[in-house]
Amino acid sequence: MTAKVLWITGGGSGMGAATAVAAARDGWAVVLSGRRADRLEQVAAAVRAEGGTVTVEPLDVTDAAAVADTRDRVLDQYGRIDGLVLAAGLNTPARRWADQSLADVRAVLDTNTTAVVTVVDAALPALRASGGVVVVVSSYAGWSFQPGAGVAYSASKTALGSIVRTLNQQEAEHGVRATHLCPGDVATDFLDQRPEVPDAAARRRMLQPEDVAGTVAFVLGAPAHVRVDELVLSPVAQR
Ligand SMILES: NC(=O)c1ccc[n+]([C@@H]2O[C@H](COP(=O)([O-])OP(=O)(O)OC[C@H]3O[C@@H](n4cnc5c(N)ncnc54)[C@H](OP(=O)(O)O)[C@@H]3O)[C@@H](O)[C@H]2O)c1
Repeated sequence: MTAKVLWITGGGSGMGAATAVAAARDGWAVVLSGRRADRLEQVAAAVRAEGGTVTVEPLDVTDAAAVADTRDRVLDQYGRIDGLVLAAGLNTPARRWADQSLADVRAVLDTNTTAVVTVVDAALPALRASGGVVVVVSSYAGWSFQPGAGVAYSASKTALGSIVRTLNQQEAEHGVRATHLCPGDVATDFLDQRPEVPDAAARRRMLQPEDVAGTVAFVLGAPAHVRVDELVLSPVAQR
């Protein structure tokens, strides 16, 4: 039987990359998408080193036509999609009303919110066929208001909670399950987008990408009749 197929956006770094390795260890064939092909290839090499099956599909998730083309290639290659991990995300240092630009606001909402809908929409027929599972990597800021997260980012991640709920409410009859995953601070490159970039000591107190990957693997491995609606995961030091 063909292995279950997991399509990961934001798979070239951080939580998406760590999830790729963890899922491959659990037997998933992994498809990696993100804009930087070199980063995807590095993660693919790590997956192969674990004996995993992996395909690299460079993609800008805000390009709906490219998303559909990628979906078609995945189905041509594997014939199925059993899971999505949607980790592609964006923030900007200029995130307050006083300094934000509308171009940045659009880019954050396009990447964090609209693109999640775009990828789920593209994969939905395949997910219905497989009784698939969707893990939407949202944020602590999508679960509780975080003053520093930014105007666009807070809005973009808060919206994911209702996107996941509508998906669960309307697609449960097809066996599709979705999780609103809300991590607190995680030591990844994403932190470089903060107005004040955390130092190494601060990053050591944060969650590590592998912590989140272990949680995602738990959700992916749950039996088909089990749905994890929402999960908040934070470092002990999170305030
Ligand atoms: N780090 C944290 O503290 C934290 C906390 C809560 C939630 N999050 C969320 O977790 C998710 C993963 O972030 P991370 O912390 O693992 O940081 P990361 O390593 O910076 O990962 C973000 C990924 O998104 C990809 N990406 C961005 N724009 C894209 C686009 N238009 N098309 C395709 N891929 C795109 C990036 O790859 P390319 O640049 O190559 O496209 C990158 O691999 C994000 O959604 C973020 O909002 C992060």
